[in-house]
Formats: sequence, structure tokens, C-alpha cells
Amino acid sequence: MTVTSTRADRSTTPSSAGPLADLLESAGLTGRGGAAFSTATKLRSALAHDADVIVNACDGEVGAAKDAWVVEHHLDELRRGAELLGRRVTVAAHRGTPTARRITAAGLALLEVPHRYVSSEESSLVSLAHGGLARPLTKSVPISLGSKDARGRRMRPTLVLNAETVWRVAQIEALGPDWFRSQGTLDEPGPRLVAVSGAVARPGVVQTSAGVSFGDLVAAAGGFSGRPTAFGIGGLGGGWLTAAEARGATWSGGDLAAYGLRVGPGIVSVLDDTRCPLAHVARTLTYAAGESAGQCGPCMFGVPAVAEDMGRLAAGTADRATLQRLRGRIGLLPGRGACRFPDGVAGYAASALRAFAPEVAAHLAGRCDVEGRGRRVR
Ligand SMILES: Cc1cc2nc3c(=O)[nH]c(=O)nc-3n(C[C@H](O)[C@H](O)[C@H](O)COP(=O)(O)O)c2cc1C
Ligand code: SF4
Repeated sequence: MTVTSTRADRSTTPSSAGPLADLLESAGLTGRGGAAFSTATKLRSALAHDADVIVNACDGEVGAAKDAWVVEHHLDELRRGAELLGRRVTVAAHRGTPTARRITAAGLALLEVPHRYVSSEESSLVSLAHGGLARPLTKSVPISLGSKDARGRRMRPTLVLNAETVWRVAQIEALGPDWFRSQGTLDEPGPRLVAVSGAVARPGVVQTSAGVSFGDLVAAAGGFSGRPTAFGIGGLGGGWLTAAEARGATWSGGDLAAYGLRVGPGIVSVLDDTRCPLAHVARTLTYAAGESAGQCGPCMFGVPAVAEDMGRLAAGTADRATLQRLRGRIGLLPGRGACRFPDGVAGYAASALRAFAPEVAAHLAGRCDVEGRGRRVR
């Protein structure tokens, strides 16, 4: 499935003979794993420290599917991109998945990752690759410089890049930065993959670029399969737009920033009017509460408490004091964990309260206007 968006018109000076980092910089490649950090900057640091390379093909985010698609359809280019980036390359994928089997069958080194949300965070992968647990490292030394593991043993400097990012590296090397910049927007150049799921006729991976309309994204996934009420953007590390907001926005950092969101790891999921958004959000937060490594305060106490309050709200057993407590608990999560997992959960929960404010009011009044249309919830 392919759908195009606006064309960027910034011209660049191709330098295919120049160093790879310069090429990636002129292409404007940013990471496709969620944080959108400059790949050239990460690569320069890695080269300076002779870093190992881990290609993150875990698709660990809720609703993610694009990295499995890259492995299935572009494995040779992925290998080429990885070879360009470093000498010692491992590809990380969840244990027992078709993606893991494809990597092994292609003769690439596989890092088998347990099926937990936080296991695919970059320092978790580095820890696992060094024989430790697949848990985020709680030390603050950048992994690109070579951090220490939980027992104080030194680990090799490591560059962790998302699988789509590595595929893009191979494409930029083959086709040049001008080709790359001919797609997307000035601020977010280049082709991108988006996993479109939920209330669409043909859920799957869409090849597109930043600046595409949500209508075109859904059309590329076969159109709506129900009456849409909201769009989930970026999974658990992202948040929500109402269907009306999505009609007036494009899938781009510029438009999504107004809602505290970004294109992130390429995930759009559509909710329709047969599902209560608060119940959906509460289920996702309950999943999150069970997925942390339980090493830091916000994950041990904060995330489960937020999930519990959201569950009360969805069940119609919350009052205004519960809502106030929930907002307070969400505010206590960011910046207090060793990794950014609680920050993502806080953003997701806050975004749901914003987008679903009418549903929150209805539930506080004991009604669920979406699921069951006017059903009393208490
Ligand atoms: C809890 C958590 C889970 C993550 N899971 C993934 C994942 O499954 N795949 C991925 O590419 N990045 C994941 N990330 C982001 C990685 O830590 C890392 O930033 C990314 O792989 C870097 O690649 P990029 O620079 O190409 O985006 C996760 C981050 C967090 C905080
Ligand atoms: S913040 Fe949570 S997920 Fe991150 S390292 Fe601490 S306990 Fe683990």
C-alpha cells in the first residue's frame, strides 16, 4: 500500500563519495524508532567509539508492525544498511517470531528478545547483548560511549537504530539525499512506514511520508470499517486525536505538535463508535502496568495507580476526586524513571483525558454514550 504526501523542495548537494554521516545529514534522516533523533549525529558518535551496531526490529510499541514488514520485504537492503553502519552487527527481534526466523535464515546474527514492552528499549537490548537481563539500564552513561551493566562490568559502545532507519540508510546510499528529500515535508523529509490498524478494512503497513492526510492513510488501508471516533497515534508512547481533529490535520510533526503528539514510530489505529475509548485506554494502561521492569518508583507504583484510576473512570465508579487524583498521578510520572517508559505512559493517559473529555464527563455522570449508546455504567 502506498500513499504520497507533499513534496519537499529543498535541494541538497549530493555527496555520494563523502562519508556516510554527511550523506545522512544532507538527507535529513531521523530515527524511525520514535524519538526522531538525527541518525548522522548518532553515527558520528558511534564511529568515534568503534561501536557495535544493534538493529532494533522488535516492533515493541502497541500497534507496531513496520519493522517486521521491512525484514519480510527488504532484508537485503537492511543487511546492506547495517554493513554500512558498522562491523559487528546484530539484529534484535522478539523470540520465536517470523521476523526472528527470517533474520536467522538470512544468516544474520540474531539477538532474541523476550516479549516484554520495555525489553526493546535500547539500553535493554545492549544489556541483553552483553549477557545481562533485557531491562533498561539504570545508569545514565550514554550507551554509545559504553556503559556499565548492573554488576558494574563495562559494556561495548553500541549504536542502536530502528530497522526502518537502517533500511533508509541503504536507500539514501543507493539513491541519494535529493531522492530522499523529494518526499515528506521540509522538517520531516523522506519516505516513512505507518502501521494502520483498528477500524479499517485492510489493516497493514502503508508506505507514505509526513504530511499525508489521515483520510489518505485510511484509504490506503481500505477505508473505514466503522464510524470513526478517534485516532490513536504512536501507540502507548503517543496519544489521541478525535476524528474531527484528524480531519483538520495531517500526519506530521507540525500538525500533531498542537496536540502534544508526533509521528513517532509510525502507528495509527482507528477507534470506531462500537468501542468505549475510556475502556480501551484503561485496558492499554493495565497492559502497561504489567510490562515495566519494576525497577523504578514511577513504574512500581505510579503506572499501576494511573491504570487503576482510569479503570474506575471507564467503569463509571469514579467521581471528581478520582479524576483529580488521576491527573495528579499522571503529573508525577515524567522524568522520574531510568528510561522514558513512564513519560510515554503519562503522555498517553493525559492525551486520552484531553481527547475524550466529553466521554469522561459522561462516565462521571454514570453514562457511557459510546458503547451501548447511552448505557448506564452504574
Ligand atoms: C519502553 C521502550 C520501548 C521501545 N521499543 C522499541 C522498539 O520496539 N523498536 C524500536 O525501534 N525502538 C524502540 N524504542 C526506542 C529505542 O530505545 C531507540 O530509541 C530506537 O531503537 C533508536 O532507533 P532510531 O534512532 O533509529 O529511532 C523503545 C523505547 C522505549 C522507551
Ligand atoms: S522507568 Fe520503568 S521501565 Fe524504565 S527502567 Fe525504570 S522501572 Fe524499568
